[in-house]
Amino acid sequence: MSQSDKVGTPSGVKRVRKAVLPAAGLGTRFLPATKAQPKEMLSVVDKPQIQYVVEECVASGIEHVIIVTGKGKNSIEDHFDYNPTLERFLEEKGKKDLAGMVRKISDMVQVSYTRQKEPLGLGHAVLVAKDLVGDEPFAVLLGDVLIPGENPATKQLIQVYQQTGLGAIAVEEVPKEKTHLYGIVDGHAAPQAPFGERLLRIRELVEKPKPENAPSNLAITGRYVLPPEIFDCLERTKPGAGNEIQLTDAMKILAKEHGLWALIYEGISYDAGEKLGFLKATVELALQNPEFGGAFRNYLKTLKL
Ligand code: UTP
Repeated sequence: MSQSDKVGTPSGVKRVRKAVLPAAGLGTRFLPATKAQPKEMLSVVDKPQIQYVVEECVASGIEHVIIVTGKGKNSIEDHFDYNPTLERFLEEKGKKDLAGMVRKISDMVQVSYTRQKEPLGLGHAVLVAKDLVGDEPFAVLLGDVLIPGENPATKQLIQVYQQTGLGAIAVEEVPKEKTHLYGIVDGHAAPQAPFGERLLRIRELVEKPKPENAPSNLAITGRYVLPPEIFDCLERTKPGAGNEIQLTDAMKILAKEHGLWALIYEGISYDAGEKLGFLKATVELALQNPEFGGAFRNYLKTLKL
């Protein structure tokens, strides 16, 4: 049995306390909206995408969020900072609830920032957070992928890590003809309670394969729980597609040398970093909104489609 085939509950597995949110990309798929504002700050219904992602961290038990920012991303820091002028104004107008809601955004979790000076790829963005993460496992959540719901994808991955001591990445089924748009997992079933058939041991990761070459239709979704060994793998990863340091390439090394799980997580993801995904997220989350979801549904019914 190779090291990467070990299954069990290893002793001394560290708690997953930190999360890295890479948010330093240029957002070219969302131009012109992203010319002068971060795509992670584009609001879906009534809050910026990155707030959904930070809330997923909190709901997953994360205590320290590390956001990787870059040029033009200062509004992310402002959003999670106090805004005394606004709070005072709201309180003076008797809008205590709104003032409290604004304050809560800054108080929900400890947030640190580090900068990626150039957008050299997702893998590079994670590597930039190495010192802040230190020698412990951590979650990675893409700042423009939304997975709303009661059972956060990150929490599900943390459960896999705590139970097995190995990293885990979230995957979901995509139509076979669309595999060329995603990182695709080649894995073998390795069922384990309570995840059952949803847990696979990764053999290989294939970046954007044509449907005829795809080993499966399971796509990498934008949520990861990784051991600190990923940093060594990243340091050994040469620039790949687009001349960027790809997280997928480093995870290939991790899977071979340490083992890595793919979890078909329970939930639905939206790639809100591109226009159609953003629209889908907006409509579906607006329909679920307790305040105006019903009125919005009635409005949609009046449209002649
Ligand atoms: P994307 O590939 O979706 O981001 O990366 P992008 O490069 O901004 O997008 P397009 O293709 O130009 O539209 C997923 C996440 O990783 C971050 C992005 O900010 C996004 O949240 N990222 C990407 C970085 O932090 N640094 C990078 O060098 C690349």
